[in-house]
Amino acid sequence: MNVSVVGSGYVGTTLSACLADLGHDVTAIDVDEETVERLDAGETTIHQPGLDPLVSAYAGSRLKATTDHAAAADTDLTFLAVGTPATEDGSIDPSGLLAAAEDVGEAIADKDGYHLVVVKSTVLPDIIEDELIPAIERASGKTDGEEFGVAVNPEFLREGSAVDDFMDPDRIVIGTDGDPRALQQLAELYEPLITDWDVPTVETGRREAAMIKYASNAFLAAKVSLINDLGNICKEFGVDTYAVADAMGMDDRIGERFLNSGVGWGGSCFPKETAALAAAARDNDYRPAMIEAAIEVNDGQPERMLELLDSHVDSEAKRIAVLGLAFKAGTDDIRGSRAKPIIEGLQNRGADIVAYDPLANEAMAEQYTDIEYVDSAAEALDGAYGVAVVTDWPEFTDLYEEFDEMADPVVVDGRRIISRRDGLTYEGLTW
Ligand code: UDX
Repeated sequence: MNVSVVGSGYVGTTLSACLADLGHDVTAIDVDEETVERLDAGETTIHQPGLDPLVSAYAGSRLKATTDHAAAADTDLTFLAVGTPATEDGSIDPSGLLAAAEDVGEAIADKDGYHLVVVKSTVLPDIIEDELIPAIERASGKTDGEEFGVAVNPEFLREGSAVDDFMDPDRIVIGTDGDPRALQQLAELYEPLITDWDVPTVETGRREAAMIKYASNAFLAAKVSLINDLGNICKEFGVDTYAVADAMGMDDRIGERFLNSGVGWGGSCFPKETAALAAAARDNDYRPAMIEAAIEVNDGQPERMLELLDSHVDSEAKRIAVLGLAFKAGTDDIRGSRAKPIIEGLQNRGADIVAYDPLANEAMAEQYTDIEYVDSAAEALDGAYGVAVVTDWPEFTDLYEEFDEMADPVVVDGRRIISRRDGLTYEGLTW
């Protein structure tokens, strides 16, 4: 098929490259000239395992890039994969997405025949119905469900495994409100995954499809917060939460994944989407008690970590190490990273902070300029009076004699990633 993808961020670029790999001709459209030039040259600034080889393999052939939205009209269908950033009150700012929808509307105004617009961006159902579809209708002079259609096809990609998640998803959610042309086009688009890999598809309404994304992420975030809440209780009772969670996870109704308790969740999705869903609920006069509690528990975990550190060392004017700055291992992304409240808490205590992350030093240094960044965990630990372990980088498991170089080996582990216990003042956050 001939496909266009508006937005060349992490979701849009992964989508473009993977669709090319499935055999489709893809036109990536982005307002940013540099992004387009790089994509055309077969390069990307997005760090995802497996993505670079796809982009360089297909650039100039099955994958083209442009800043011109008019290109959408020459394709069968257009994905909208534009970011929906959070505003101050937690709700999302859909202006970039709506501008893209309008551009696509203008592009298809003179197109003969049906065009399908597929919403990939994470956006609440009301915005799709009340703002996005009318924007396309106004700009194109055409009617939804007649000359063009709108489908909602949310993305469940995880950072660090986005290409694998695209190629081997648990399910493909297709919200069309039953429009047979939209269903047929998306079935054809995903045919290699559906037929060759037996990926189940869920055909549903557009509103439901949009909500499935929010609900899934809210559920997963709440699952982690619940195990953290239980973990905090376990710690008080001297119980090892991980032993408890292992047995809980064997119950099929609970499941073993997302039961790693610790300093909590971050990233580009969980914080933004729980906040947006809660804000939307409150706007509709419903108090989302569970989601608010999930956010509250998550906000509290870094504070608990700092309190544990305080119970062993007075950080004022002392060298304190922070190991791990990315929101999770395998990425340089610091959005929503738990390291930020830890750093801020240590700054408030007057600590002399030294930080290390295998990928995220640079990103954090842009936001927190007053702390020392070093190139290894060993350097960070050298001479430190305490260390907060924030990200579950596998290399931290191997740390052993490096702790012997600390001025005082106080180790507060927020991810249960440190394997050495003897000779340390070791505190697990929830164990
Ligand atoms: C998430 C969703 O998994 C994905 O489907 C969606 O499309 C985008 O948001 P991502 O943000 O890449 O993906 O990270 P994920 O691996 O889900 O982890 C989210 C956060 O939860 C991380 O900060 C991670 O450290 C934390 N987490 C996860 C835990 O604290 N414990 C767990 O058991 C699992």
